[in-house]
Amino acid sequence: MGSLAVLHASQLVTLTGPKRPRVGTELSSLGIIRAGGMLIRDGQIESVGPSAEIEKDIGDGEIVDAEGRIVMPGFVDAHTHLVFAGNRLDDFERRAQGESYEQIAQACGGIWSTVEKTRAASEADLLAQARKRANWFLRCGTTTVETKSGYGLTVEDELKILRVVRQLQEQVPLQIVPTFLGAHAVPRVMSVQEYVELVIHEMLPRVAAENLAEFCDVFCERGYFEIDQSREILSAAKKHGLKLRGHVDQLTNSGGAKLMAQLDATTADHLEQTDEQGIAALQKAKVQPVLVPGSVYALGLSRYPRAREMIEAGLAVVLATDFNPGSSPTPSMPMVFSLACTQMKMSPAEAITASTINAAYSLNRGHKIGSLEPGKLANFAIFDCEDYRELAYWFGVPQTQSVYVRGECTLKL
Ligand code: NIG
Ligand code: FE
Repeated sequence: MGSLAVLHASQLVTLTGPKRPRVGTELSSLGIIRAGGMLIRDGQIESVGPSAEIEKDIGDGEIVDAEGRIVMPGFVDAHTHLVFAGNRLDDFERRAQGESYEQIAQACGGIWSTVEKTRAASEADLLAQARKRANWFLRCGTTTVETKSGYGLTVEDELKILRVVRQLQEQVPLQIVPTFLGAHAVPRVMSVQEYVELVIHEMLPRVAAENLAEFCDVFCERGYFEIDQSREILSAAKKHGLKLRGHVDQLTNSGGAKLMAQLDATTADHLEQTDEQGIAALQKAKVQPVLVPGSVYALGLSRYPRAREMIEAGLAVVLATDFNPGSSPTPSMPMVFSLACTQMKMSPAEAITASTINAAYSLNRGHKIGSLEPGKLANFAIFDCEDYRELAYWFGVPQTQSVYVRGECTLKL
């Protein structure tokens, strides 16, 4: 592969810091090198520093001139639902007319309508749709995503989605971390308890045997899976060696954050309704909160998670898109930055840390990605602006100029 030098960045945003998720004021420390450069060899970062210093070591390697733009680690999106068929345009229009997410779900829209379309789709069709969306993520500057099953809800359909995720990984440069979310909704033909048994005794053993997922997730919510049912499923997943994430306290405060703390989960996601006790429980158990303001915005709701209190309590906050057809149809991390800053009062620097190094740790990949430090993979993006704060400020403007995964240019706009 050889070497590659990136020169003349207005800001090389390195995220250099302790080898663990960042908390408190550490979230504001981006390790910026002005007029920075970076030397890459065989897909890995060899050194970072002032551009003038890097230039001395180039030899006959390739040069990328950033021409005064910012260079940053590619975003790590730690919560997405990428594989599904179709869209939910009808739900979207109904919400605009005043119906709620829950009302639409009860009236045969919602997750269930995507399940029907996803079951009917062939693997090839699902893969083609997912490939297009994977490219959207790259265009927004994202180089790694976690992605979940959850629109199949039968043994074969859940496995089908996870196999599509695996094939997708072979076909696109976007790096993908798979999560099993069989407990996303209850199929209409059975009781909740019957479905919980199916997830535990038939789905989980197959997912584990075929090594199709690293994490298990549950939608813990009124009308979906209650606390006890979520606990049963996640405890079983743990015995199969899966790590845990959870959709908790999104629409109601059911004590989901506390459950994730008790189970020693890696992350607790959503948390719009989580109170001080929930925040304290997450802090004590060192569970990382994954905040997804895109879903609050797109559902037309106003209660965002309490990011400031979480940061002040010492939680290693993560930001993600929650890309999905129902509640958050955006792959754009810069859009999420805008929401984080305007609605949750995070600073642009905190938003960047939450979507790079902290997100990488939440996927057990903090040692490999999420910052521009020697020894890490050369996954980075160049944005057409001079100051990192512009990413959050000019909302709705695509600023990605080029994206690299393992030192290879995957996209140039
Ligand atoms: O994260 N809350 C549950 N799951 C998704 C929504 C999925 C859908 O509506 O299709 C979420 O918001
Ligand atoms: Fe989600």
